[in-house]
Amino acid sequence: MAEIVEAVRWQGDAATGVLVLLEQRLLPLEETYLNYDCPIAAAGAITEMVVRGAPAIGLAAAYGAVLAAQPRNLAKQSFEAALQVIADSRPTAVNLHWAVDRVQRLVAARGLDAEALLDEARAIGREDIAANRAMGDFGAALVPGAAVRMLTYCNTGSLATAGYGTALGVIRSIHAQGRLARAYACETRPYLQGSRLTMWELHREEIPSTLLTDNMVAAMMRAGEIDAVVVGADRVALNGDTANKIGTYGVAVIAKHHGIPFYVAAPISTLDLSMASGALIPIEERSAKEVTEVRGVAVAPPGISVRHPAFDVTPGELITGIITEQGVATAPYEASLPAMKARA
Ligand code: MRU
Repeated sequence: MAEIVEAVRWQGDAATGVLVLLEQRLLPLEETYLNYDCPIAAAGAITEMVVRGAPAIGLAAAYGAVLAAQPRNLAKQSFEAALQVIADSRPTAVNLHWAVDRVQRLVAARGLDAEALLDEARAIGREDIAANRAMGDFGAALVPGAAVRMLTYCNTGSLATAGYGTALGVIRSIHAQGRLARAYACETRPYLQGSRLTMWELHREEIPSTLLTDNMVAAMMRAGEIDAVVVGADRVALNGDTANKIGTYGVAVIAKHHGIPFYVAAPISTLDLSMASGALIPIEERSAKEVTEVRGVAVAPPGISVRHPAFDVTPGELITGIITEQGVATAPYEASLPAMKARA
C-alpha cells in the first residue's frame, strides 16, 4: 500500500531549515514539493492554497513562525510583523489562529528561540496525527455494519492535516477494520478538493471509492446507497454550528431529509467556543476566477457576476455528532463541546 503522504514538513535545522509543502494546486496531475525559506512566502502559500485544510494550515503556520525567527528573516522584518501576516493568511479555519496563539504563548514564556519554535511545530504535527487516529477509532465505532458506505465532502485526509486525516481518517479506520464497502467523495466545486485530492488519496491507497458530482447526493441517498456522512470542519462554534467547505450545509440538509446520520470530525483545535453560534464565524470570499475557470480554462462567459463564499455553516441541529479526539459530542453542544475541551 502507498505510504501516507506528508503534505507539510520541515527540512534542516531550526536556524537555516526550510518549510516543505506539497504543491496541492497541481494534484492529481503532478506531485511537486516546494521549499519556503521566508515566512511571508509561507503565508502566501496558505492564501494561495498550495497548502489547505484546517489542521494543515495550522501546522504550516507553526513552521512559518520558525522561519520568522530565523536570523536571515529577522533582518528583513520583526517576528511579530511576520507572524501577523501568517495569521491573516486565511480567515475561516480557526486552527491557523490556534497555532499562532500557541506560538505567541511559547515566545512569551521562552523568548524568541527558533529551536523551541521548531520543537513546538513538530509537537503540533505529532499531536494532530494522534488526534486523527483517536477520531478514527471514535468515528468508526459510530457506524455499525459489515459493509458500510460512507459519503464525504471536500478533502480532510493526509493532505489537509499532519497525516491520516479527520473525516477521511474515520473512513480509513472503517477500512482498516475491513468494514468499508465504499467511500463516496463529492467533487466539491469550485476548487475540486474532492475529485482532485480526496480521490487521489483514496485511489493511491486502494481504498474502495467512487467520485460523485455534488448534485448527485440527494439521488444517491434516496436510492439507499449511503449509510452515513462524515465531513471535516474549519471552525465549530459553542452551539455546534460548523463552518466547513461550501456545500457541506446542503449535504447535511439532504441527509436529514433521508434520515441518514451526519457526523463532523474535528479535533479540539478546530473548536472555537468563544463564538456562541456560527453566525459569528468569518466566511472567506475567494476569487471569482476559481468559479469561472478550471486550470485557466473558462467555464463561464467573461464579465458575469459571481459569488464565491468558500465555506458555509451547517447548523448544529443537523449534526448527529461531533467526533473529537476526546470522544463524540452530541446535542446539546453547549454542554458537550466544553466537556470535550476540558478533557484535552
Ligand atoms: O479551502 P480548504 O480546502 O482549505 O477547505 C478545507 C475544508 O473545508 C476541510 O473540510 C476542513 O478544513 C477540514 S480539513 C481536516
